[in-house]
Amino acid sequence: MEEHSRCKLELLRDYLVLYLQIVLANAQGKATQYVTLIDGFAGGGVYHDGRLGSPLVILRAVEEAAALINIEREKPVSIVPVCYFIDENRGAIECLEHHLRGTEFRDRIGNTIHLRHATFAACVDEIVVGINERHRRGGNRTIFFLDQCGYSEVPAAVVRDLDQKLNGRAEFIINFSIGWFGDFLSNATEASYQSLVDRLGLGGYVDIAQLLRQRTELGGNWRHAVESHIGLGFHHATGIRCFSPFYIEPEDNHRGYWLLHLAQNQRARAAMTSIHWSKANRSKHYGPRGYGILSYKPDLDPTLYINGMSFDDTSRVECQALLAEDYGRLVRDNFQDGITYSALADKTCNETIADGAMLDSALWQLFTDNEVEIQSRTGCPKRSRTLTSTDVIVPKKQLVLSAFGDALIPRRRPRRLGRS
Ligand SMILES: C[S@@+](CC[C@H](N)C(=O)[O-])C[C@H]1O[C@@H](n2cnc3c(N)ncnc32)[C@H](O)[C@@H]1O
Repeated sequence: MEEHSRCKLELLRDYLVLYLQIVLANAQGKATQYVTLIDGFAGGGVYHDGRLGSPLVILRAVEEAAALINIEREKPVSIVPVCYFIDENRGAIECLEHHLRGTEFRDRIGNTIHLRHATFAACVDEIVVGINERHRRGGNRTIFFLDQCGYSEVPAAVVRDLDQKLNGRAEFIINFSIGWFGDFLSNATEASYQSLVDRLGLGGYVDIAQLLRQRTELGGNWRHAVESHIGLGFHHATGIRCFSPFYIEPEDNHRGYWLLHLAQNQRARAAMTSIHWSKANRSKHYGPRGYGILSYKPDLDPTLYINGMSFDDTSRVECQALLAEDYGRLVRDNFQDGITYSALADKTCNETIADGAMLDSALWQLFTDNEVEIQSRTGCPKRSRTLTSTDVIVPKKQLVLSAFGDALIPRRRPRRLGRS
């Protein structure tokens, strides 16, 4: 198994464990939790070196999450994963079945484990019907893992359609070989890229002629600009609110694969970002580290576009400082009357590399630097560092110099905050 595949599967496992912990955190006493986990490009279940493929990683992650969650519970919860493992290659699906029959999951085959020798696209309708029957509120508690080989098997239009049929409640983790996509883009391939973009449902969101112009304007350093254009195009074409396009970089090759994550909820986006930070292995981001991670900023240190940043401790400290600065400006310029923590996180999550803890720290630093007030829902000054979704962040009013330059008059008397 190549190292980037190992890293990808580790991220998948860790995300599933964290996802289930979050889902069940406020469901004390619940006896059974169904989740639907779709591995649309499942492979054969085991690699030549004996490492487990994604279907087994998924099943084991659910067991691991259940064990962790139940440590604390008086009444244990049973997590029932309803899985669709799909592969268009007959050999792969037979190998997977053979392997699964040798595990503790054998009795679930045909019950809660559905093996399909088919293309992912051919199984979509069956999956939607099953989910909508199981979950009263539609596609609740559903994750699609779409580990295609290149970039053309998961059109944004299919994701959009699925999201709508599942009432905006499903999440998607999509492997997308963006490095390959960009490498072959040239004037000579413009026509074939245009038809590819149309097939992916990106027509109207991605402008190939503009990309080629950027390529000429930016010379050797054009890849980030092109990739962010395609990333944003994919995001908008799906219509899903929260999005992260971080890379899993292969060992022997610069750039490579996006592990795209799409979810309607900023908490899910923050959770996935926290997994990238917690691994600090081959996850990478190319471009700005403060607010506006997908923007092209001509004055930015070009090494950030060329070599990217790893999700390590040094980057974390640097991002943290930039975020505090950028959020200070953002809150001051746009939310003079204040904004709730959840609305701020919602509006800004796609533009940052922050997980929940980093956003909290940035806001708390603004508070200790006297740049913002933080109030609870009832308007009282916040007394604890633990921020909640209903807390309100209010920029401190600027002091104005009088016409004579001899006095500073506050526009509004700032409320004193208690600290603990
Ligand atoms: C990258 S491999 C999957 C590896 C697997 N997810 C893992 O981590 O163990 C991609 C798989 O997708 C299958 N495949 C390719 N196109 C497909 C399609 N349109 N629908 C379903 N499966 C497809 C291939 O046969 C191959 O087994």
